[in-house]
Amino acid sequence: MAEDTLTITDNRTGHEYTLPITDGTIRATDLQQIRAEDDTDGLMAYDPAYLNTASCRSAITYIDGDAGILRYRGYPIEQLAEDATFLETAFLLLEGELPNAEQLHRWEEDVRYHTYVHTNVQKFLEGFRYDAHPMGMLLGAVGALSTFYPDAKDIDDPDGRYLQRVRLMAKLPTIAAYVFRHAHGLPYVLPRNDLDYIGNFVNMTFEIGGRHEPNPVLQRALEILFVLHADHEQNCSTSAVRGVGSSHVDPFSAVSAGIAALYGPLHGGANEAVLRMLDQIGVKENVPGFIEQVKDGKGRLMGFGHRVYKSYDPRAKLIKRVADDVFEQTGLNPKLEIALELERIALEDEYFVSRRLYPNVDFYSGLIYQAMGYPTDYFTVLFALGRLPGWIAQWEEMLGDPEQKISRPRQVYVGDPERPYVPRSERG
Ligand code: ACO
Repeated sequence: MAEDTLTITDNRTGHEYTLPITDGTIRATDLQQIRAEDDTDGLMAYDPAYLNTASCRSAITYIDGDAGILRYRGYPIEQLAEDATFLETAFLLLEGELPNAEQLHRWEEDVRYHTYVHTNVQKFLEGFRYDAHPMGMLLGAVGALSTFYPDAKDIDDPDGRYLQRVRLMAKLPTIAAYVFRHAHGLPYVLPRNDLDYIGNFVNMTFEIGGRHEPNPVLQRALEILFVLHADHEQNCSTSAVRGVGSSHVDPFSAVSAGIAALYGPLHGGANEAVLRMLDQIGVKENVPGFIEQVKDGKGRLMGFGHRVYKSYDPRAKLIKRVADDVFEQTGLNPKLEIALELERIALEDEYFVSRRLYPNVDFYSGLIYQAMGYPTDYFTVLFALGRLPGWIAQWEEMLGDPEQKISRPRQVYVGDPERPYVPRSERG
């Protein structure tokens, strides 16, 4: 019978090593025993940007990038998007099981109870410039929450962790809404505990003069988008949360690092970049010329391509359906025509086909957010609201994993060898 081992011959020494294979992996630390004569550290794995390195064992999210499969705790994303609420999905990610009626009620009530933020949070948000980027404000505000809740430093206490989890889930929409109102010069709207999670957030963003007529179709669409974004295993922002959290800092600081990572245009900032790209293209007739520019290496087709999905991102498929529901309510977003044409041409073009570049979650989400009335630079904030439960679940899983330590990659030093300091007077 075949053995689950890997035999390596080191041609420098002629020595042979046998390493165990577990779950399709070898342990990088097992390579350390492989040493040349003058080698003290042993062999390392070199993997910039973690293209082929598993950094943890996780039971939260399963992705099969070739088959376009995404599951939270084993449940297919399509089924959750059909039926589940966002808080129910968050509970599933955090606890590992779907809640029963009593558990869901308690979870919803706990989150509802904590939606208010200290009034000083409002004050420091007011200190931002009128044109401050919403993501800069959000990451600053969430980091600052750690100063309001010093008890969050006690990350070893499960009750304490539950409280911080609730606070994060409850307060992020409130802060996000204040960030929205700040950009519009509108007074902040306090949370309303008679509304559900999504309804309260939408009300805090759009209420004017005590009035807001909720549109259940748009609210459900936003909820589905949150469900679709809720976790995505070891992506850039989640790795940031895990990496920063591995120093045992409080969860507000760790989540704020995740928000910073999400801000970037190669990650969550892509939904914003897609809209800017569509604006730049202007009309459908300019699409072929734009595609040629991309192929010439002048920029990327934003919202296309993914490190893991090498087929159609299952979330993008579902989002396209959500877009139909939303546009039925709001009227067609004129940029949809350009996006559809981009997708049509790209999916037939050898450049994109050979590199297996398909629309990702960000390709259509921005169009929906825009139709809902959110400005372009606010899209990534909506992504952050959706991703929050995933960040917290991954952070807690990391803390409970006895194999995890402070995250600290190695390097291959390629700089100068030792050389003597040259005094300033001798450097000309
Ligand atoms: N447009 C044009 N070419 C692309 C694109 C794109 N969107 N994405 C990748 N490529 C090309 C690269 O130029 C490269 O070509 P080459 O082999 O000729 O050099 C090849 O495809 C592989 O690309 P990499 O950059 O090596 O792929 P990587 O896995 O590192 O990047 C990423 C993944 C960052 C998502 C990339 O596809 C990209 O920049 N996409 C646009 C930004 C975007 O939509 N980001 C959102 C991702 S989803 C999310 O974070 C929620």
